Amino acid sequence: MKIIMLGAPGAGKGTQAKMIAEKYQIPHISTGDIFRANIKNGTQLGMEAKKYMDQGLLVPDELTVKILLDRVAQEDCKNGYVLDGFPRTIPQAEVLDKALAGLGEAIDYAINVDVPDENIVRRMSGRRACLSCGATYHVEHIPPRQEGICDHCGQALVLRDDDKPETVQNRLKVYHEQTQPLIDFYTAKGVLRTVDGTADMKDVFEEIVSILK
Ligand code: AP5
Ligand code: MG
Repeated sequence: MKIIMLGAPGAGKGTQAKMIAEKYQIPHISTGDIFRANIKNGTQLGMEAKKYMDQGLLVPDELTVKILLDRVAQEDCKNGYVLDGFPRTIPQAEVLDKALAGLGEAIDYAINVDVPDENIVRRMSGRRACLSCGATYHVEHIPPRQEGICDHCGQALVLRDDDKPETVQNRLKVYHEQTQPLIDFYTAKGVLRTVDGTADMKDVFEEIVSILK
């Protein structure tokens, strides 16, 4: 099963993608997580990506597409995967489509996690992320057992550099301009499903599971 998560920054793509990956035993692939891991490790790719991410802009397609295509070609992806944060532009979606078509494959579901802009800024300022294992928390909705410490790996939790309110506004603008057109793109392919992302995260997940059945 090949699934794409669509939605504004902070809509809960990562939260839901993790649960889907666990339930269906497929890899969760987040281009944002891949970039953040590279920034943390000080790689060339990380330094290049950081210039864009810190401003809330998209990393250029040339850098992003290759990483993603390499990742989905790996052995653990042969039974499917859940993509979180990719594609984010029409050209990215077209490249993915073409690569899959070449293998006689296609995306099965594009899940659009719908959350209005008003809710987003509030969510982001409360988010805490683990840069080691990629887990995310929310100071009010999903607090870690011990404040500031990841439940899974014991590392310190941080407020992401791009979760400052002014950067979030920019990310929303970029989302509406460059990523939202993908909703029409996947509707036309007949694979788009929209879920209400303002519901409790467990209810959002239940709705997604009922779609994937
Ligand atoms: P990326 O890491 O993908 O960030 P994003 O799309 O902005 O999405 P977020 O991770 O911020 O939000 P999310 O939807 O995963 O929400 P989450 O589950 O954490 O990308 C970062 C940057 O990398 C981009 O800006 C860009 O520069 C670059 N990049 C990445 N991919 C790229 C690509 N393909 N092309 C070009 N550039 C790319 O949830 C948010 C918060 O809400 C959390 O605190 C969570 O606990 C809480 N929450 C979740 N669900 C609920 C709920 N139902 N109720 C209440 N709270 C909830
Ligand atoms: Mg995410």
